[in-house]
Amino acid sequence: MVSIEEYCYDTPWPREAFEEEIDNAELGIGFVAEEEGYMVGFATGLSVASEFHLHNIAVHPDHQGKGVGRQLLEKIDEYCHQHDLRKILLEVRRDNEHARRLYLGMGYESVGTRKDYYGPGRDAYLFTKVLAAD
Ligand SMILES: CC(C)(COP(=O)(O)OP(=O)(O)OC[C@H]1O[C@@H](n2cnc3c(N)ncnc32)[C@H](O)[C@@H]1OP(=O)(O)O)[C@@H](O)C(=O)NCCC(=O)NCCS
Repeated sequence: MVSIEEYCYDTPWPREAFEEEIDNAELGIGFVAEEEGYMVGFATGLSVASEFHLHNIAVHPDHQGKGVGRQLLEKIDEYCHQHDLRKILLEVRRDNEHARRLYLGMGYESVGTRKDYYGPGRDAYLFTKVLAAD
C-alpha cells in the first residue's frame, strides 16, 4: 500500500498513517484489489456511527483506467450495506479531475468545499453518497 501510495501522490501518507488507520480494530477498514496475486489498488477508511469515511483510495498507475477504482468503490458500497452504514463521505482535491469523475459516476454528489484542506490554496470538495435514509 505504501508503495502504491508513493506512486500516486506527491505528498504520500507515511507507513504509520496506514498502520494507525487499519490497526484501529473497532473502526478501521481496508480493501485491496489484486491481480495475479499482486496488490494493484486499495481503499481505507473508518466507520463512524452510521457513516463510512473514505480516507484514501489509490490504484497503481500501471493499472489505472481499467475499472479497479470503480470495483473498490463497489466493494465499499457492499460492505456498507452489510454493516448498516448509510452514508459515505470523502474529500477530494479540487484539481483531481479523474477522481471527481469516478465519484460522480458512482453516484456521489458534491455537497460543499473545504478551503485549504490539503494546504494553502489546495481546496477540497466534500462528496457524499447516501445509501439509505436515516
Ligand atoms: C482516482 C483513481 C483511484 C481512479 O482509479 P481507476 O482504477 O483509474 O479508475 P477506473 O478505471 O475505475 O475509472 C472509473 C472512472 O473514473 C474516471 N477516470 C479514471 N481515470 C480517468 C482518466 N485517466 N481520465 C478521465 N477519467 C478517468 C472515469 O469517469 C472512469 O469512468 P469511465 O471509465 O466510464 O470513463 C486513480 O486514478 C488513482 O489512484 N489516482 C491517484 C490517487 C488519487 O487521486 N486518489 C483519489 C484521491 S480522492
